[in-house]
Amino acid sequence: MNKLKNDLLIRAAKGEDVERTPVWLMRQAGRILPEYRAIRNSLSGFKELVETPDLAAEVTIQPVDILGVDAAIIFSDILVIPEAMGLPYEMIEKKGPHFPRVISSAKDVEQIRLAEGPELQYVYDAISLTIKELDGRVPLIGFAGAPFTIFCYMIEGSGSKTFSKARKVIMQNPEMAHRLLEKITASTINYLKGQISAGVNLVQVFDSWAGILSPETYREFGLKYIDKICEAVNGEVPVTVFSKGAHFSLSDLKNTRCNTIGLDWNIPVQYARSIFENTKTLQGNLDPAVLYGSGKDIASETKKMMRSFEGCRHIANIGHGVYPDTKPEAVKMFIQTVKEYKHE
Ligand code: CP3
Repeated sequence: MNKLKNDLLIRAAKGEDVERTPVWLMRQAGRILPEYRAIRNSLSGFKELVETPDLAAEVTIQPVDILGVDAAIIFSDILVIPEAMGLPYEMIEKKGPHFPRVISSAKDVEQIRLAEGPELQYVYDAISLTIKELDGRVPLIGFAGAPFTIFCYMIEGSGSKTFSKARKVIMQNPEMAHRLLEKITASTINYLKGQISAGVNLVQVFDSWAGILSPETYREFGLKYIDKICEAVNGEVPVTVFSKGAHFSLSDLKNTRCNTIGLDWNIPVQYARSIFENTKTLQGNLDPAVLYGSGKDIASETKKMMRSFEGCRHIANIGHGVYPDTKPEAVKMFIQTVKEYKHE
């Protein structure tokens, strides 16, 4: 593995001492940078960018050069897994993802294949190129969607406020739900191992829809599979779990075999700290809407956030992906404030 010149993120994830808190932003690659849009607009669409390794590597590195973050995250999407399992996705401009074919029966679940790895070679190629071009400047984060969130898209076929079709399957046919979740989990483990072999230094699992389940359902249909993923990969690189909205499950999350827990901005930091008791690194959790504020307000809210994590293992981030209409200057102010923050 390439020797890292800046390994703050990795040391913080492992709970080792760091001279300053590392900082990066969820969804930092793409979206907010004009330099990204210039490349994106020269192509047929989002998918072409994801599937062209040298361009995916280029937009992965942009936030490191332009914003000064302490980590890069590989430019891809969580939806490459359903596609590798046999359900191709489309990305519709200004609307989001759409699956022409979805899972609607137990037979569909049986027919869907496991992603073995080679189907996703374009992601591994983008990772190898990125690692080479980063030359150890900062770590590279790999990622995947959590099985429950992928399950939601495979059944629903697009975004939804309630994902009620997916939850209907959980209620009416729990065996079918488990069978599909098992297949997604096995595929995701293969995929993350492929990313690790290609060189990523840490992996993050995004469970964007965790918050719509009850504590019991999330334990059985969500966390069980996340923990299987943690078990399979955490001997190789540190693992971060971001279960958005799952405030009701923090004590269960404490038992998953991950190093870092991502926190959204709706959770009182003191409450999360009282549960984790410094057994895990906490990542987050500035309200992404703060980045719409003035420079002065961004600086003061960021310092307030940093103070709330004082004395605990911490990676600075925002509480969910950066909103597309955020100004790069606002993001720079957030990053600079974290970097200059003086611990008490
Ligand atoms: O973090 C990064 O910058 C790396 C790239 C990344 C993308 N998607 C690129 C992307 C990551 C980590 C993701 C994760 C992802 N994708 C999640 C989990 C995180 C979260 O936000 O909750 C989810 C739910 C998806 C599915 C998805 N992809 C949706 C719902 C959409 C449409 C709306 C949106 O978020 O923009 C996408 C499209 C997408 N994925 C874009 C990018 C840069 C925008 C498409 C474009 O540039 O045309």
